[in-house]
Order: sequence, then structure tokens, then C-alpha cells
Amino acid sequence: MLKVHNYKHTTQINTNTKCPPLDTLNSKSGFVFGKCLGSGSYSTIVEARAKNSGTLYAAKIMNKNHIIKSKKLKYPEVERTALLRLDNHFIVKLASAFQDTENIFFILSYEENGDLFSLIEKNGVLSKQLAQFYAAELLLAIEFIHKNNILHRDIKPENILLDKDMHIKLSDFGSAKILDGNKEDHMNKTESTICDRKNIVSFTGTIEFIPPEILKGNQPEKGTDIWAFGCTIYQMLMGKPLFKDQNDLFTFQKVLNIEYELPSSLDLDAKDIISKIIVEIPEERLGCKKELELKEIKDHTFFKGISWIPLGMKQIQPPISD
Ligand code: ADE
Repeated sequence: MLKVHNYKHTTQINTNTKCPPLDTLNSKSGFVFGKCLGSGSYSTIVEARAKNSGTLYAAKIMNKNHIIKSKKLKYPEVERTALLRLDNHFIVKLASAFQDTENIFFILSYEENGDLFSLIEKNGVLSKQLAQFYAAELLLAIEFIHKNNILHRDIKPENILLDKDMHIKLSDFGSAKILDGNKEDHMNKTESTICDRKNIVSFTGTIEFIPPEILKGNQPEKGTDIWAFGCTIYQMLMGKPLFKDQNDLFTFQKVLNIEYELPSSLDLDAKDIISKIIVEIPEERLGCKKELELKEIKDHTFFKGISWIPLGMKQIQPPISD
């Protein structure tokens, strides 16, 4: 039987998540599994303490039957490949991966300060300074991912964790795409479920950060992540998603029609950068022009004052007052 410990820590737990009974998990691993940190459509994340070192990790547990039934067989391998390739200050680390007969386990670095979504919820909105700081760290994470020929494809505040010093760690590469891989690469959850508008009802993820070309069933490109980046800037400053309606179907329509408003209370630089990113044609989005790439975004006035090199070395602390 697996021991379940209650560790003392301060991470906020999403009480809506459904976690499997931990005593059914394999106890032969070198970890003692603890409380539930969250769950996605095909995985659950729990605390995992290494028996030999006592180090606390986050274990992403994927049930094999569930993966087979939902035809997501390639997801774990893509996620593992992406995480092993992406060694960066602003991306979660994969410490190890193993499996038993029922489950696949990814042992990830434990990020103790929850996620950006919860931080926004707690504060209502973030200050321009803090939103600028987190957007800049996120941009460096995206730049690194893209330079390594990977698309994240699920960038949103829930997938941006905060480490012990309140720097970001981009997580959940379960929808990633490896661009140098086989052209027959796996269909991701957006492609396989929502390109047909009728399927909107069966879509389980969030569509608020997905650009119109993906909703129409086109292949994702770097512009997919940049669109989500623009939506994330808006959410940090306004405390709510850029595209949101009473249900997914209406939200879907809003995204397709690029129907959004930037309120007069929104900072002028933020308005300008968002309106240059949230445009229909992916290649016309700021930062998506081949020769300029993300430099165009870094040079925008929204990022005035950011020292990119020390920021990338994690030498600048987040502007948070206690
Ligand atoms: N929730 C999801 N992933 C996590 C991680 N790596 N650390 C802490 N909480 C998490």
C-alpha cells in the first residue's frame, strides 16, 4: 500500500480537481506520493517526495488505459522529448520518467508558489510593472522553446507556475509539437476536437487562448503561442480573459471574428502591443515576421526598461511588494 503523507506547504490547491485514490498507485517507486496539486484531461499531478533524498517533486501521473481510450498515445512521449530538450530557467524540469503496468509517471521540479492564474485571481489584476515582468520572462521562455523547434500550444496563466522566488516556470507540455519531427505528428486536443465547429461541445480544454486559424483546423505555427502570449498580457492587466462569453460556443465565435475590446482604463502600451499581436493572419502578428522574430516584441514600448540579458539570467527579482 502506498503511504499518503500530508506535507506542510503553502501551494494553493484547486479543489475542483479530481484525483485518483493514491493507495492504488504503485508504491515500488522511489517516491511517496502526497496530496493532489491538480488534474488535466488525461493526467493528475500530485506531490511526490523522493524516499532517498527527501526532495519534494510534482509527479504527473497518466493512466495508460485513459490515454489509449482517448487516443492520446503520443502525448507522453512528445512531452518527455520536449521537457528533456528544454533546459531553461523559465521552464519546469523533468527529473525522471518511469512507468508501471497502469500508469506513466513524470517527476517534475516542484514549483511552490502556485500559478499565475491563482495570483491574478487573488489580486484581481496585476500592476503594469509585474505584468511587464512576467510577460518578459514568458517571452524568453517562448523564445527558447521556439529556438528548439518546439511549439507549446497551451500557453495560459494556469500553465505558468511560480517558483520559490516568484519567477515563472512554464509547464504542461502535453499539447506540445516538435517541429523537426515526423510530419504525421500527433493531432493535439485542439486539432482533433474543435476544428469542426459542431465538436465544440466535446472540447474539454479552454478555448480562450486558441487563435482562429487553429479553431478553423489549420496547422499550428509559432504565431499560435504568440497569440496566447498576447491573451496572457491582457488577462494579467484586466483580471479576465480577452475572449470570453457566456459559453464556449459564443467564445468560439468571438475568437473566430476577433471580437474583443480594449477598455480605456488599459495601459496605452499594453493596448498597442495586444492589438499588434491579436491579428488574424499569424505571419502579421508582432514577433512573427521571419527576419525580425521576437526582437520586434522585445523592442515594443510595453517592455521599456527591461534589461533582457540579466532578466534571462534570473538576476532581476519580480517587482512584488509584501
Ligand atoms: N502543479 C502542476 N505542476 C506543478 C509543479 N511542477 N509544481 C507544483 N505544482 C504543480
